[in-house]
Amino acid sequence: LYGPQRPNAKGLNLMINSQLEPLLQAMQPWNQHQWQGGPLLAAAINAAPGPTQAVTSPFDRQQQVGQIQWTSPEQVPQALDAAVLAFPRWNAVAVTERAACLRRLADLLEMHFAELMALCAREAGKQLKDGIAEIREAVDFCRYYADQAEQKMGQPTLLPGPTGESNELYLTGKGVFVAISPWNFPVAIFLGQISAAVAAGNAVLAKPAEQTSLAAHRCIELMHEAGVPRDVLQLLPGSGKELGPLLTSDPRVVGVVFTGSTGTAQQINLGLAQRESGPLATLVAETGGQNAMLVDSTALPEQVVADVLESSFASAGQRCSALRVLFLQDDIADKVEELLAGAMQELKLGDPRELATDVGPVIDAQARGKLQAHVEHYRQLGRVLAETKVPAAWSQGDFVAPVAIRLDSIDELTSEHFGPVLHIVRYASTDVMQVVESINRSGFGLTFGIQSRNEGFAADIDKRIRVGNVYINRNMIGAVVGVQPFGGMGLSGTGPKAGGPHYLLRFVTERTRTINT
Ligand code: SER
Repeated sequence: LYGPQRPNAKGLNLMINSQLEPLLQAMQPWNQHQWQGGPLLAAAINAAPGPTQAVTSPFDRQQQVGQIQWTSPEQVPQALDAAVLAFPRWNAVAVTERAACLRRLADLLEMHFAELMALCAREAGKQLKDGIAEIREAVDFCRYYADQAEQKMGQPTLLPGPTGESNELYLTGKGVFVAISPWNFPVAIFLGQISAAVAAGNAVLAKPAEQTSLAAHRCIELMHEAGVPRDVLQLLPGSGKELGPLLTSDPRVVGVVFTGSTGTAQQINLGLAQRESGPLATLVAETGGQNAMLVDSTALPEQVVADVLESSFASAGQRCSALRVLFLQDDIADKVEELLAGAMQELKLGDPRELATDVGPVIDAQARGKLQAHVEHYRQLGRVLAETKVPAAWSQGDFVAPVAIRLDSIDELTSEHFGPVLHIVRYASTDVMQVVESINRSGFGLTFGIQSRNEGFAADIDKRIRVGNVYINRNMIGAVVGVQPFGGMGLSGTGPKAGGPHYLLRFVTERTRTINT
């Protein structure tokens, strides 16, 4: 339950100097720190690890953040052996004790707030406000799933039965889960997946995104410190292409929890289905979106612009919830585009640790190259409506300047463009149902925004659109644990929603017990 019994973590107001300054000071020692990371495996494992690689900052490739050692393919089967042995022991631990570990982890995350903020900024290019939201969300996931586990797994449900017989239904862990997490939320989504799986009594092998393995390493160190045994939760940093299939094709794996691209989720699904032995596996996948916002002529242009800037360009557009396609009704389109183009000129790119920075870097050179090629294609067609520039001082970083591109239809987009790239489509009010149909036809269904002061119109569109999270007259990002459970449908994921009351249920198995008394 969300309510006074379980308040979410507190935020910081960076506009108030007395809150900003202590944070910057606490981060200071971590601005030069070099983190060392690598596999964190059960004690019994003796296969040698893989090579070590330097980690650099996306906003300045000259700056080293630390070093990460990869997991070798030989370590994977040994880690699985250890997880199989660890599962029944952990599943037999009282749920209150498992929940206590997560609550201790939440406290540890708060104690190490400044270090994790600096690590998120330097390894992932996270801006200050995104770093704060990231760690708060991780804390909230831990406490929320701890509560959920206790509520759902604490006591069996007593069922009716004839005299002389007792019946009960109870939930228990499933087995060994593989957690494959993304770089865009290296602490929150990473720990959200794992804390749910562990709270439910499962053993976990965590394979974090290559780009943010140091943050993952630090999180797992804290999780072990919080009391989750090393063989119950193991970290396997390394290449997804190499380690992913080794992990997900193994018949000892009972489920995979994955956040990332739709294509990778489909490959994992296929791999699980093609196993010749082993259980029918669970897949929890949260994937991409082609998220749209529909603006009708009654909307307030200033509010539309503020919400579009936040939805498209905050976090450099690197959220699965981010706005990709803005639909503007003809009567309001000129005004919104003019205000938006002006506001975009004010966006400042730079060091994510500076408060004045509006847009940080994208994650790496490969992401930058793909986004730039997409923008270049539309530049050739003369369809770039507005764009900012990357200041020369930041040429050593992986920056992409925010840009707005004119499209005729959402159908022109065949893939998700995961960065600060906004597409704009104009529509006539008579065509609004075709617009809704085109969004549904994309097959994605993650977030959707409506801007309208006509409540009946907004309610009608809300009813017709097929997405997981609808936001009316506000921005479309930053779902809050327990408040806006997050996740989509169709090509955007399997559900259940992260940070919602049904998430944990996918990590458990149901049993009934009948006793002849
Ligand atoms: N949960 C994030 C958001 O709502 C996206 O992953 O922005």
